[in-house]
Amino acid sequence: MILRGKNIVLGVTGGIAAYKIPMLVRLLRKEGANVKCVITEETKRFVSPLVLDTLSGNRVESKLVENDQWIDHVHLGKWADAFVIAPLTANTMSKMVSGHCDNMLMATYMSCEAPVWVAPAMDLDMFKHPSTDENLRWLESNGINIIGPEAGELASGLVGKGRMTEPQDIFDALCEYFDIKGPLKGKKVLVTAGPTYEKIDPVRYIGNYSSGKMGFAIAEEALNKGAQVTLITGPTKLSCSSAIERIDVESAEQMLNACLESFKEADIAIKAAAVADYRPKVLADQKIKKSGDLTLELEKTTDILKTLGAQKKPFQTLVGFALETNNELEYAQKKLEKKNLDFIVLNSLKDEGAGFGVDTNKITIVDRNNKIDKFELKPKPEVAKIIIDKIIELKP
Ligand code: CTP
Repeated sequence: MILRGKNIVLGVTGGIAAYKIPMLVRLLRKEGANVKCVITEETKRFVSPLVLDTLSGNRVESKLVENDQWIDHVHLGKWADAFVIAPLTANTMSKMVSGHCDNMLMATYMSCEAPVWVAPAMDLDMFKHPSTDENLRWLESNGINIIGPEAGELASGLVGKGRMTEPQDIFDALCEYFDIKGPLKGKKVLVTAGPTYEKIDPVRYIGNYSSGKMGFAIAEEALNKGAQVTLITGPTKLSCSSAIERIDVESAEQMLNACLESFKEADIAIKAAAVADYRPKVLADQKIKKSGDLTLELEKTTDILKTLGAQKKPFQTLVGFALETNNELEYAQKKLEKKNLDFIVLNSLKDEGAGFGVDTNKITIVDRNNKIDKFELKPKPEVAKIIIDKIIELKP
């Protein structure tokens, strides 16, 4: 889904081609975009705001002032990752050039820092008019992306250039812009990050100091390389790009279930999460009151990485992490074998600046051919790049 999480503002002006815009809204939504429509008073004659409202799942905006109430006239412009005006009438086109800001659509346009696309639509003589020609050139030289218009039959019955480009082609132009091309294009990447929390009672848990920074950096790097990324994360304060499908979990068991589901479809899985190895055998329904010493009985959680390793298909790449304090290489090699990994990323707690909570990491990569690569201390985004490059090197 190329448009996953992208915020697209659709400006619809009052031209006959506005009746085709519900189709564009549907195409954008199906491709994962969030869509908000802003229209002019004239637009309402050509397409029902209710239809745009229903299909976009968001309230259609048209007014700068409503019931004597001030409306934030720049919020749509600030929200947008892309602003598309379709159809664009000659009237609104000239307003864009002169900065004539007399409605919500124009206020959105003038406050928008995102890239703008316009699909002009008008009768052939209006399109040929020198003022239209000049306005189009002004728009183009000011970085506006112009789509169409096309030649064909017009609403007036005349035939010539002026038809709005079809919704499918406008949609394709947006997809082309947002489509990240890279060596992992077409690959589905699953990344886990953060700690897990294992509940003791309703107010307490067993956890660890993992911040999730390493896993989040890997997810972002995979996205930059063109992959479709699912990030399954334990509790963290971090945020990620909206283009990443993020699944929040708390316990090792929840992470296991989410991983089993995602792994079926994944080409690559990178398990950077610090999963709890043990959880309380019994979860108390009520808060445990203090009395004398307390002994908690723990049971093992399922090793998620090992479970995935056992299911791994030949086309899948599986990467694990190992955090060790001693006999690092030997333990890492054993884990690589036992969990059926393609390579393992080893952190040693002996290394200053490596491990939990910090912004840097010092890693050694051991691969299935027993090739060992040691790296210097680096910021986690650079470490993420090394890990993703290693995956690309192993399976181009
Ligand atoms: N891991 C997992 N599920 C668990 C425990 C760990 O998937 N229940 C994964 C981690 O995400 C990591 C790798 O296993 O990629 C290694 O974790 P680590 O804690 O270093 O090793 P363990 O296999 O748990 O072994 P030990 O704690 O004995 O070193």
